Amino acid sequence: MSDLPRLGVNIDHVATIRNARGGDHPDPVRAARLAAEAGAEGITAHLREDRRHIGDNDIQRLVDEIDLPLNLEMAATDEMVEIALRHRPPHCCIVPEKREERTTEGGLDAARHHNQLAPVVRRLREEGGIRVSLFIEPDPVQVAVASALGAEVVEFHTGRYVEHVFAGETKDSEAELERIRDAATDGAGRGLEIHAGHGLTFDTVKPVAAIAEMRELNIGHFLMGEAIFIGLEEAIRRMKALIAEARA
Ligand code: PXP
Repeated sequence: MSDLPRLGVNIDHVATIRNARGGDHPDPVRAARLAAEAGAEGITAHLREDRRHIGDNDIQRLVDEIDLPLNLEMAATDEMVEIALRHRPPHCCIVPEKREERTTEGGLDAARHHNQLAPVVRRLREEGGIRVSLFIEPDPVQVAVASALGAEVVEFHTGRYVEHVFAGETKDSEAELERIRDAATDGAGRGLEIHAGHGLTFDTVKPVAAIAEMRELNIGHFLMGEAIFIGLEEAIRRMKALIAEARA
C-alpha cells in the first residue's frame, strides 16, 4: 500500500455555483464522479446548518452513487448527528461552524467544547460505526483532548500557514509548518491518524504533504477554482503529482 497522503476532494463549491441560480447544474455528484476518475481517494462535503452549498439530497446521492468513501463535514449538533446516523458515511469530520463566517475560519476548540463533543463522537462511532475526525488547530492541547475524546483522526487546519505564505511572511509560515509537524508527531504518537486541509493550493501543498505522518489532505476551493482554467481532472492530477513529488 502506498504511504502517500490520500487526496480527499471537497466538492462544496460545485454546489455553491449550482445554488447561485437554483436548478441542478452544475451537479456536485458529477464532480465527485470525475474526481474519482482523476484519482481522488475520497470525497468531502460539508453539510452546513444553512445549506448554503451542499444539501441533504446531495449527501444521499454521494453515499448511494459514488464508490469513494464520503467524509461528511458537520457541526456537532443533534440535527447533524441524526443526519449522519441516517446516511452512515464511512467518515465524519466535526468542524466548528458559525453562520456568519464565509468559510471554516479556524479549528474546533475541542478543549472548550469537550462536553458537547463527547456524546457526538461516541454516538457517531458506536451507533453509526463511523470513523470520526476532529478539525483542530495544530496545538498540543487540542491533540490531547481529541485523543481523550476518542476521535480516530485529527485534521489540522492549514489556513494560517497558507495565509502566511501568500503574505510573504516566510518566518511565520515556517513557524506554522513547524507547529503542524510537531502536532502530527504528537498525534501519531497517540495513535491518531493525521490529516490536514484548508486553503491548500499547488504552491502550498508540498511542505504539508511532505510531513511523514500525513495520511490525507482535504482540498476543495482551490481545485474548483483551478478547474475553471484547466479542468477538474487536470487540477486533481496536478495536485496528486505534487503530493507524490513531496514524498519523492
Ligand atoms: N478540511 C475541512 C475540515 C474543511 O472544513 C474544509 C473546507 O472548509 C477543507 C478541508 C477544504 O478547504 P478548502 O476548500 O479551502 O480547500
